[in-house]
Amino acid sequence: MKALVLSGGAGTRLRPITHTSAKQLVPVANKAVLFYGLESIAEAGITDVGMIVGDTAAEIEEAVGDGSQFGLKVTYIPQERPLGLAHAVLIARDYLGDDDFVMYLGDNFIVGGITDLVDEFRGNRPDAQILLTRVADPRAFGVAELDPSGQVVSLEEKPDRPKSDLALVGVYLFTPLIHEAVRAIEPSWRGELEITHAIQHLIDSRADVRSTVITGYWKDTGNVGDMLEVNRMVLEGMDRRIDGDVDTASETIGRVVVEEGARIVNSRIVGPAVIGSGTVISNSYVGPFTSIAESCRITDSELEFSIVLRDSSIQGVGRIEASLIGRHVEVTPAPSVPSAHRFVLGDHSKVQITS
Ligand code: TTP
Repeated sequence: MKALVLSGGAGTRLRPITHTSAKQLVPVANKAVLFYGLESIAEAGITDVGMIVGDTAAEIEEAVGDGSQFGLKVTYIPQERPLGLAHAVLIARDYLGDDDFVMYLGDNFIVGGITDLVDEFRGNRPDAQILLTRVADPRAFGVAELDPSGQVVSLEEKPDRPKSDLALVGVYLFTPLIHEAVRAIEPSWRGELEITHAIQHLIDSRADVRSTVITGYWKDTGNVGDMLEVNRMVLEGMDRRIDGDVDTASETIGRVVVEEGARIVNSRIVGPAVIGSGTVISNSYVGPFTSIAESCRITDSELEFSIVLRDSSIQGVGRIEASLIGRHVEVTPAPSVPSAHRFVLGDHSKVQITS
């Protein structure tokens, strides 16, 4: 069995971060979201991974390499444009050959891995198996309708009037029958070859399409709110570890990770929180659910429920909450006169100001 991991896409909902960086590499508790997926593929006993890459191919390849750091053998499959999840299957035809495969969306986060699911699929070997989860508002998702035996009857992409509250999770298991289906469908109104249409095609041709409803935690980290939420979840499960320097004037409370080479000076860190190596926190407060990556400077500031990417600096700006801050960002106070905000903001930036 192989895996097909989708790490292309446009990432419009995570702009401006995704103007310069792949969304699958945004860190959750200081580790790229994609890495959690690759680890669970390896755990499930799969070693051959085809990785779909788009504009950010170079960055993904630099981070993942040949996959050996995860015990995987990774082959890169370039996609000229994000033409849809079924398009990714279409262009991976030669790589996948006649093997069964798990398709994993590189920006999805599933607690508990996929081992049970893969084992169940190997045991029963239906034509396809999808993963579902109950959501409060299914209109933003692919939605499945099931018959009483759990067989999938229909799938709809972002329906106005959903037939159930069962949303598609970004992990799918396929036999080679899917190749016929992705060739048979036409692009949707948004110009993409939709995987929901390909699976519906299987259902219409009386294929055995089964589903598993997961009870564990799942999130598509497509937007900032979800990203912060997944970060909160992962930090909750961490153990305390202080490998860096914490001076005597500082306090670290609860599940705090201070990586080797990080320095905490005259500051208070309340966990769960992680501070990356080479980062210096001085005269500051870092509150719960915060991940600060490597080589940052946090000085005379307060930060809570946020993610800061590497090489950024936050100095003397009071309190920051619920924020995603990119790489090499500088946040500093404005001169006191005139009393005005000053910005250099990239395209699609979002700023909220209290005044
Ligand atoms: P999406 O989140 O559905 O799409 P997107 O990355 O274009 O994001 P946005 O909606 O914010 O513009 O994609 C799910 C995953 O699949 C994500 O990791 C990107 C990847 N993907 C591809 O590799 N190729 C594609 O053609 C598409 C549509 C997505």
